[in-house]
Amino acid sequence: MEILKKPEEMTAWSKRIAREDKTIGFVPTMGALHEGHVSLIRKARAENDAVVVSIFVNPTQFGPSEDYERYPRCFEKDAKICEAEKADAVFHPAVEDMYPEDHRTFIEVCELSNRLCGISRPGHFRGVATVVAKLFGIVRPDRAYFGMKDAQQLAIIERMNRDLCLGVRIVRCETVREPDGLAMSSRNAYLSAAERKQALAISRALRECEAKFAAGERKAMPLLKVMGDILAREPDIEVDYVAIVDPATLDDISEVKDEALAAIAVYIGKARLIDNTMLRAKSG
Ligand code: PAJ
Repeated sequence: MEILKKPEEMTAWSKRIAREDKTIGFVPTMGALHEGHVSLIRKARAENDAVVVSIFVNPTQFGPSEDYERYPRCFEKDAKICEAEKADAVFHPAVEDMYPEDHRTFIEVCELSNRLCGISRPGHFRGVATVVAKLFGIVRPDRAYFGMKDAQQLAIIERMNRDLCLGVRIVRCETVREPDGLAMSSRNAYLSAAERKQALAISRALRECEAKFAAGERKAMPLLKVMGDILAREPDIEVDYVAIVDPATLDDISEVKDEALAAIAVYIGKARLIDNTMLRAKSG
């Protein structure tokens, strides 16, 4: 497995692979890899000739009072995981190489970026869209793999890829959970044992929402109330949002027709955690 630090080395590597008529599957990450990331790498491995994982804690997607400095960094351990999962290359650039002093271009995916997480994290999705576009330009993948846990991020990247004609096949991957239901996240490391226990209310609220939906409830209000009530019982949880939205536009919906995304974001201790589930009328 190759570890590449310079963007131009990464591009040269990818061009070499493309000249051999091989496909490249790409998994962008910020490191602190867990089973959620590993599931993306495995899918990329199964569907492509070559696999690239990027590990880059992207400063432009963190707000001034967010956890950029504290974000867990463990490159050696992450590289071992990539190697064990048979990645062909890890791209691990320096901040100065991704954002030289005269970097002036940013990508804004309008409307989609100002909803849900975009309200409490202004500028976050501008940073995400910008770095993902840059990474696509550097790595030039055929397919790129993203987790449904970050459903808004995924919707924004799909739209950017379409609007800017980037030509990457975006592959959606299921959320991987701990055995007790908590969605895996690098930020779970911030939780104390007591907070970790309370955080289970997030997945429990989503399961209860699914159950009510499966029992025939189609109005958003009662579905939102089920989730809100479960979260409200936990003393250390502060709800950022509980929402039922159109999965493509992320607009609030009052009654579910075919499909809706039920999404939750909470603050708990030092962490901000998100999770979601897709409500589908046909399977319900
Ligand atoms: P990061 O949080 O490291 O996540 C990298 C990828 O792993 C994302 O596509 C995310 O949705 C996915 N992922 C995280 N937890 C998951 C889980 N429990 N199950 C399935 N997939 C999961 O998301 C980012 O990094 C950054 O914003 C990035 C896209 C790399 C841009 O900087």
